[in-house]
Amino acid sequence: MSDPRERFLLRYAGGFAPFVVSRAEGAWVETTDGRRVLDFTSGQICSTLGHNHPRIAAAVRETLDQVVHLNSWMLSEPVLALAERLALLFPPPLDKVILLNTGSEANEVALKLAKMHTGRFEVAGLARSFHGLLAGISSVNFSMGHAGYGPLLPGALLLPAPYAYRCPIRHCDGACDCTCLETGFALLEQQSVGSLCAVIAEPVLSAGGIIVPPDGYFRRLRELCDERGMLLVLDEAQTGFGRLGTMFGFEHDGIVPDFVAVSKTLGGGVPLAATITSAAVEEDCVGKGFLHVTSHVSDPLPAAAGLAVLEVVEEERLVDRARERGEYLLERLRELQAAHEQIGDVRGRGLLGGIELVEDRESRRPADALGAAVTAECLERGLSMNIVRAGTSANCFRMAPPLTIGEDEIDLAVEILDASLGAVLADRPELAKV
Ligand SMILES: Cc1ncc(COP(=O)(O)O)c(C=O)c1O
Repeated sequence: MSDPRERFLLRYAGGFAPFVVSRAEGAWVETTDGRRVLDFTSGQICSTLGHNHPRIAAAVRETLDQVVHLNSWMLSEPVLALAERLALLFPPPLDKVILLNTGSEANEVALKLAKMHTGRFEVAGLARSFHGLLAGISSVNFSMGHAGYGPLLPGALLLPAPYAYRCPIRHCDGACDCTCLETGFALLEQQSVGSLCAVIAEPVLSAGGIIVPPDGYFRRLRELCDERGMLLVLDEAQTGFGRLGTMFGFEHDGIVPDFVAVSKTLGGGVPLAATITSAAVEEDCVGKGFLHVTSHVSDPLPAAAGLAVLEVVEEERLVDRARERGEYLLERLRELQAAHEQIGDVRGRGLLGGIELVEDRESRRPADALGAAVTAECLERGLSMNIVRAGTSANCFRMAPPLTIGEDEIDLAVEILDASLGAVLADRPELAKV
């Protein structure tokens, strides 16, 4: 007899969680069999205000009484208000907004506009990046999802990632000096057919293993793009609206990209995304016949949720909260590292924390089996966390709780992780090498 969870649902990512959820609130998820699970993934890294924030619920409820959906050339008040609020949030010249639904779509729209504006088609992504799983955008995903679906888009090129713990060009150890970026651009030149259009990047590579580029990385990337007339797309799906302790990740290096794609965190759990660019790019592309009319472009319901999210982020000072709580989280994770040889590296920015598990610190061999066992043990003890998978390894925990998380909840998560690591290693010592 098959698992009832799998009877009618197509399995889109392996299996399903071993419980069914009845409700969710704040950082907690409750199951139909009465368990409470502390959610350190904010759903799919979307619920930055916590699950079911009452302001989002109220905003959505209001649209249900007024207007949910419209023909996409008809605009509504929530859409006009959100477009204005977003445009004012970004530095000039980023003042044109299109309201979409998913992160893949927001990135695809940025790349469609970049291609149309430059008349070129080659797009570079960083190794271990993740930008979505639709056919076009997944061509510049370099963490997972390529095998089995046939050819990628022509012109998808690769830059090495600034992964200081495992330097891809065997140059740095522990602190990246951006040589990978210079080398990467030299390689781009050699791969290019003369049509270099854009670079797309996450401010912190999340699915790739919480890889935090060094200070100045994006400044240099901006220069390298400008020298070649390439446009820069920042994918802020996970990082936009506070998670890194700044409103946007690109602020860290003081640069302004040509496009910003925001998604997950904009709707706070409601499917909403946006691509933001300059009036000059918009004007040029509209003149060339730009077309992206989808069923739910500019829909009122998700726009109302987005407005509520932006209001709450500001009113509850969630950007500052993320910075403060993020420092606390990293401090607690470093304490844990001191106690466990198998925690090879702790890294992160704001409330996007990562722990890389190794068999031992000398060999740094990725401890994938240990990671899987500890994830299961944590869940058993009431903590939901992700192991992120990039290329052949899956040994890095991602800790991305809601920005509203309390210090007591961080303490509880660290306590559960500590106990789970200890219990798994006591039970299965062969998973580590000490
Ligand atoms: C950085 C980043 N970009 C894009 C996406 C794709 O977003 P969506 O799943 O909404 O298409 C994701 C999803 O995990 C992501 O993490």
